[in-house]
Amino acid sequence: MKIRTLLVGLVAVGLSAAAVAADPIIIKFSHVVAQDTPKGKAADKFRELAEKYTNGAVKVEVYPNSTLYKDKEEMEALQLGAVQMLAPSLAKFGPLGVREFEAFDLPYIFDGYDALHKVTKGAVGQQLLDKLEPRGIKGLAYWDNGFKSFTANTPITKPEDLRGKKMRIQSSKVLEEQMRQIKALPQVMAFSETYQALQTGVVDGTENPHSNLYTQKMHEVQKHLALTDHGYIGYAVITNKRFWDGLPADVRGQLEKAMAESTEYANQIAKDENDKSLELVRAAGKTEIRVLSDAERAAFIKALLPVHKKMESRVGATTIKSIYEATGFDPSKF
Ligand code: LMR
Repeated sequence: MKIRTLLVGLVAVGLSAAAVAADPIIIKFSHVVAQDTPKGKAADKFRELAEKYTNGAVKVEVYPNSTLYKDKEEMEALQLGAVQMLAPSLAKFGPLGVREFEAFDLPYIFDGYDALHKVTKGAVGQQLLDKLEPRGIKGLAYWDNGFKSFTANTPITKPEDLRGKKMRIQSSKVLEEQMRQIKALPQVMAFSETYQALQTGVVDGTENPHSNLYTQKMHEVQKHLALTDHGYIGYAVITNKRFWDGLPADVRGQLEKAMAESTEYANQIAKDENDKSLELVRAAGKTEIRVLSDAERAAFIKALLPVHKKMESRVGATTIKSIYEATGFDPSKF
């Protein structure tokens, strides 16, 4: 009688009896960053809302900090169905064969979050997510992180300061070209290995938004940070398409609602989280933070902008053009 009453109650909030009576559906959500980052917090928010809106019919297990899988392995795990959800950075979709996402890595293509949202909240962003489907992946949302600073153990005020430096990058051909453009030596490496590589001198420097820099303690092994804002790091939340399509429709609907709200949350906190992390890096006192003058910033832009043209054949001239059109970015102004 009691169970029946409970089921009736749950059905009343919109879930089918089948969905609430069965064992919970488990969503393993793996990611590579700390919990205390925009992505980490948004994944936890999704867990909370998904479990609430489905009244426990879904249980979300979040595995942060590469505890379950590292960058490359997590993509394979999703395709094999060993995990159900990820939020890889947009720089990491090239190896899947969806090179267009690397357009997000083009230096200086977004002049701030507003310009970025014209893409991620618009038709171009949706078209890019749709390209994942033939790979068995469903793109659910874009989550913001922020704009990157270069770091190294020697001062950085101009592009030449990174010449000859071994710079850790994500697995993106655009980022490789970006580093080559300023005669730095790109080293592709998993996020989880970066701190140690910096500490032991396997690489000299790197680039990341401040939330990643601070929570991985990279600032403890990098003496200089330049506020270059030269590129963007954000995420596509993705799921295994077969898993997603196989969910009971009512459960899927509640998960979509949880995802929409966690996306809103992620994109609201991202800037503040990065600003706070920069202050914590400053307070730690181990890294000199350089604010670039207008002329110094202009020199970085001038040095890095040719990457857009060079990478047309990689990410597609049409993709780049559609981003320019959405944001109003005009490379000829520089
Ligand atoms: C990195 O690998 O540098 C970052 O993109 C990791 C992340 O997910 O933010």
